[in-house]
Amino acid sequence: MREAGELLHGAHPAASEITVKPGDDNFVTACDVAVQEFLIARFSELLPGAGFLAEEQETHCIPSGRCFIIDPIDGTTNLIHDYRHSAISVALCENGAVTFGAVLNPYSGELFYAARGEGAFLETDGAAKRICVSARPLRDALVEFGTSPYYKALADETFALVKELFLRSRDIRRSGSAALDICYVACGRCDLFFETILSPWDYAAGSVILSEAGGLLTQIDGSAVRLEAPSSVLAANPGAHAEFLALRREKK
Ligand code: IPD
Repeated sequence: MREAGELLHGAHPAASEITVKPGDDNFVTACDVAVQEFLIARFSELLPGAGFLAEEQETHCIPSGRCFIIDPIDGTTNLIHDYRHSAISVALCENGAVTFGAVLNPYSGELFYAARGEGAFLETDGAAKRICVSARPLRDALVEFGTSPYYKALADETFALVKELFLRSRDIRRSGSAALDICYVACGRCDLFFETILSPWDYAAGSVILSEAGGLLTQIDGSAVRLEAPSSVLAANPGAHAEFLALRREKK
């Protein structure tokens, strides 16, 4: 993943390297494709026979058995704008359950990772330290959200929730990389993240990192996420997670 991260350095895609995908303001760059091809080649060597679900593939179904779920660049719009906050996100899924996840921010060098049952870690400059979620209640929370930019019809629902959360928390952030948002909750920098629709590659790796760090990741109604299809995502420390569900019930 760190080798793949090198492909982002100095990458500021020209207009000719950017293609529009279905949905609102949804793009793929030559860099997304290059990172994806690199990762698929290297992970095929590491685990021969494993399948792949990757964002920039033509079809999106989860292969049975062992498979990698890859978002080559989570934060493609940030990359296009040279915002320097994007991630490479890789999960390993075994018979439908995520057992390993890693999220790399190539700009900061921070690598978040976790294997199921073994804790969550943040590695920077070659040193890894264990991470865990905060215990902050919503009132003291730094809340992150995603705008679901490719589904602008969901804007009313998203921004009504953002307004309520803003009034009941310390402040709000919108970073442009859901994978990093979830990892920021996992390491306690932020306390709660939500987005009304995300694809499995945006959150699969983050889901195991967050759960190993003591957090909860569900849909925004509290039900379990399903890797087979896009869904909403709520990722938070357990107290803030419960407060979000209560707030949403109250406002319905
Ligand atoms: C996107 C980012 C963004 C979120 C979008 C995602 P992509 O991922 O995570 O923060 O708001 O919903 O799709 O498309 O850049 O891989």
